[in-house]
Amino acid sequence: MDGSIGQRQKVKQGMLTGKFLRNAWYVAAWSEEVVPGKLVARTILGEPVVLYRKADGTAAALEDRCPHRFAPLSIGKLVPGDRIQCAYHGLEIGADGMCAHNPHGAKNIPTRARIAAYPIIEKHLAVWIWMGDKPAVPAKIPDFSVLDGAPALHVMPLDLISVKANYELVVDNLLDVSHTSYLHEGILGNKDTVESETPVELDGDDVIVSRYSPNATPPGMFTPFWPGHPPRIDKFSRTRWMAPCYLTLFTGICAPGAAKETGTGYHGIHMLTPEDEGNTHYFFTAVRWNVMTDDETNKRERDRVAKLRRFAFEEQDGPVIEKQQLVLDKARRPLDPVILSTDVGPVRYKRVLERLLAEEQG
Ligand code: FES
Ligand SMILES: [Fe+2]
Repeated sequence: MDGSIGQRQKVKQGMLTGKFLRNAWYVAAWSEEVVPGKLVARTILGEPVVLYRKADGTAAALEDRCPHRFAPLSIGKLVPGDRIQCAYHGLEIGADGMCAHNPHGAKNIPTRARIAAYPIIEKHLAVWIWMGDKPAVPAKIPDFSVLDGAPALHVMPLDLISVKANYELVVDNLLDVSHTSYLHEGILGNKDTVESETPVELDGDDVIVSRYSPNATPPGMFTPFWPGHPPRIDKFSRTRWMAPCYLTLFTGICAPGAAKETGTGYHGIHMLTPEDEGNTHYFFTAVRWNVMTDDETNKRERDRVAKLRRFAFEEQDGPVIEKQQLVLDKARRPLDPVILSTDVGPVRYKRVLERLLAEEQG
């Protein structure tokens, strides 16, 4: 593993920064994953973390490493007082990360018997964790308010897959949707959608990539959303990257030449939490907009869209991205990718990310 990390540092000029922004919020879990009484183990930014719910229902996150002999606390059990009892020798650690009970000898609590307790906020159906050394800034949670208050049948199930690749490769994939015409042909794109305008805008530190494909055969993802849709449509997307690893994708179809808002589609939600340098927790869901179908149809569509999107990410994007990572790991020299017209978005976000990393590191 060390070899491949070193290798990634070598290739960073070409493809990856190879670093994490630490003073930022990351999605640790969907809120619904952290059920009362359960310990959820998850590696985030290379650090082991355990999540659980306190008696008052709020979430807590601790370093998943007992201060005694470093057994993972996540294999222990929750005991009264919002403590985790270590499975190995029974130390009890509170939600503040301090040892609250030592069952051995004179029962003294050593001053070093403490671990990290991370700031947590629950918002937009997710549990957000702050692992940086600076104070957590709640206002820095990216805007996924499109998830708040949407009718349940219009929101796809909250999903999660693991990708064996650095999260930046997944961002590159999502900010250059020209790949949908090839990798997701028939589902999300087709030969009619290859030729598109791809304007890029900056909004503060956000990078927005739009794509408009006029007069195309409608891709299969969208056709059931619109009974009686015209035989040809305009397909569009507007993807916003928010540092360091978040994307919203406003996408859909409309009648040729019509205003986008008169059509239908969904907001794709993509939250990419680095597990470590070579692995990513890929949280995703979607919210339909301008829903034209009845609730019976919407129920079916919820399942269909969820399955199709999981298939697209897990069976189509995932294997390519993971193989890309293997190629990068094996590179013996710094790589310098050929840049196409569709790469303006990926190049821009990488510049912003590099600046933010440089600012954080002083
Ligand atoms: S390793 Fe946790 S109490 Fe010993
Ligand atoms: Fe894709």
